[in-house]
Amino acid sequence: MKKIFILFLGCVFIQNHLFAQLIHISTQENSLIFQVTKQKKVMQSHYGKLIKNTQGLEDMAVVFNEAYPSFGNGNNDEVALIATHDDGTMATDLFYKSHQQEKEDNIQKTVIHLKDDKKELYVDLHFKAYAHENVIEQWIVVHNKEKKEISLSQFASSAIGFKATDYYLSHFYGSHSKEMMISEERLTNGIKIIETKRGVRTTEYENPTFMLSLNGAAKESHGEVIAGALAWSGNFRLAFQVDDKARCQMISGINSFASTYHLASGENFETPRMILTYSDEGKNKASINLHRWAKKYNLRAGNELRPIVLNSWEGAYFKFDADKLKNMMDGAAEMGVEVFVLDDGWFGNKYPRNNAKAGLGDWQVNQKKLPKGLDDLIDYTAYKGMRFGIWVEPEMVNPKSELAEKHPDWIVQRQNDRKMLLERNQLLLDLSNPKVQDFVFNVVDRLLTTHPKIAYVKWDANRHVQNFGSTYLSEKKQSHLFINYTRGLENVLKRLEKKYPSTIFQACASGGGRVDFSSMKHTHEFWASDDTDPYERLFIQWGTNHFYPPIATAAHVTKSPNHQTHRETSLKFRFDVAMAGRLGIELRPDDLDEKEVKFAKKAIALYKDIRPIVQFGDLYRLLSPYDEDGYAAINYVAPSKKEALLMVYSHEHHRRYERNFVKMQGLDPSLIYEVEEINTDSKKSHISFNHQLISGEILMNRGIWVDLRRPLESAVFKISETK
Ligand code: GLA
Repeated sequence: MKKIFILFLGCVFIQNHLFAQLIHISTQENSLIFQVTKQKKVMQSHYGKLIKNTQGLEDMAVVFNEAYPSFGNGNNDEVALIATHDDGTMATDLFYKSHQQEKEDNIQKTVIHLKDDKKELYVDLHFKAYAHENVIEQWIVVHNKEKKEISLSQFASSAIGFKATDYYLSHFYGSHSKEMMISEERLTNGIKIIETKRGVRTTEYENPTFMLSLNGAAKESHGEVIAGALAWSGNFRLAFQVDDKARCQMISGINSFASTYHLASGENFETPRMILTYSDEGKNKASINLHRWAKKYNLRAGNELRPIVLNSWEGAYFKFDADKLKNMMDGAAEMGVEVFVLDDGWFGNKYPRNNAKAGLGDWQVNQKKLPKGLDDLIDYTAYKGMRFGIWVEPEMVNPKSELAEKHPDWIVQRQNDRKMLLERNQLLLDLSNPKVQDFVFNVVDRLLTTHPKIAYVKWDANRHVQNFGSTYLSEKKQSHLFINYTRGLENVLKRLEKKYPSTIFQACASGGGRVDFSSMKHTHEFWASDDTDPYERLFIQWGTNHFYPPIATAAHVTKSPNHQTHRETSLKFRFDVAMAGRLGIELRPDDLDEKEVKFAKKAIALYKDIRPIVQFGDLYRLLSPYDEDGYAAINYVAPSKKEALLMVYSHEHHRRYERNFVKMQGLDPSLIYEVEEINTDSKKSHISFNHQLISGEILMNRGIWVDLRRPLESAVFKISETK
């Protein structure tokens, strides 16, 4: 085997020329290895634990499928690529041409170039391996160098195989107000598909993520687990096929449902990134890998602390005027809130936005409610020592709006006079149209240039596609709508990110309908769910944080009884749950009594003190709310390991409190820590050893009792290294 090393701007390029050989993509603990066979086929040889010494692997019989299986290569299983060539034929057989690898600091980049043996169809497999975080990103670029147009009816981002005795798949499903519920099942022979076909609010019912454990159901801290996430805000499809050889092949990417894509000669098709990590220390390690990676590479300002927000929605809904908002601002400032966010209802004049039936699309301040305009409110927020944020839903339009009257052609529609199907009384703007992209960009751009003090934008999206069809796309390219819509959205978000690097963006889509790594790359946080009941949130945040980090998980304290579930909870319990993410408030401060305001003030001050641990630390899942014993527990550990937080929740009645025995994780076993209960609402502590000094070893390996017996009771502890 001959290798040429070329030194170029500090990077090392390795060019391989002969066969059979290995292409080794690696991080500190993971290896993804491809084998180029003598027939010039690129086959997957290994994905899992790091293999430092690959001697002997080159000539071993291949276990897995091709690195990028295509239809027409003799294999009619699930395939990654189906192409109809310029002469109408459908067989594609890809062969190795060359590959490059370069390493710069933490990132190893690999490109494997493949070509169809008969047609001028080129496929590049791209990989980025992040050494410290043990994350590998994969995406594909298809180049049509054939003489005429080709069409693609399958175009996966990744095809990876696994070999084990059995496979357990966890996926994250839900609905509005109940996102990211976990279902774990043993895969049997056949195909399990996780997908959405609805467009726009794509993570409401299923999230494009999974955890696959090998050789038995996954545990939090042991066992082999692969976690994956597709960075795409459009329709997705993750297919897991267990075949007759007990292999599991995962093919993941954009859902090709109603999305045949035509590529003119000379055009390329780039897939979204599939993000993968492998852990042989259970599910929690896989989550930590993804959180660390996201904070560094896939979240806006992942190294900046997030402010505490008061959002007006559950406190005011559509019913407010400037005085009411200012009164809320007074209360927010008094409690220590840092950003006041004005939610829905501030715009529309001919069709005022007084409910969800009208005004969407008309982004001018409602003169009746706010005659002095936004600056009056923005200035008042500043006077109160806070920043101002605002809600928009720029992808949407109510039929009752000036925008719908003026630009009916901008609306996604079935055409031929078919009835428009409404969802939340609204329709969708056609982001496949560059003019509409400009409009959507301008809605936010105009707000931010006219009111440069706006520091935060909540970007909502409250419907799916349904009326599939575009007056902009040509007859032939109607099937591009799902994909071009999503690309159009990404394009707008990228433009805004570039122009407004310091404005905070929240991704919301009826709650957690847009929680994915593509959206996250261009935003700072997401609204995890419209369900703000802290009991429900224990489950929602538990599922969400399997992939997406707490720093980005907006969690708000709202009124009791809860507006969604009518469940009553103490203010302490609500704070203890919301503090596990990016804490915010969503109520009318006037609705709190004096004692509650006092508690809220203290809790907010406390969160300011502990937020670096929550937002920059590692999250460990200790006791699952799904377990029968009615407890949940997590702990956070700061990167230095000198500080940690333990949060324990009881959500059922317990007669035998002895069962709540918690073993922490991630501490330094050699350190001595002081354990202090914080955010208390009574003098009595839930531990008998408050303020005592305890070794990391004891906290982790022996464990501690936490005396929680009642339902919806909680305790939070700060664990600090003693000097
Ligand atoms: C969606 C969001 C809520 C709120 C309303 C406003 O439901 O998820 O947080 O902003 O819209 O209409």
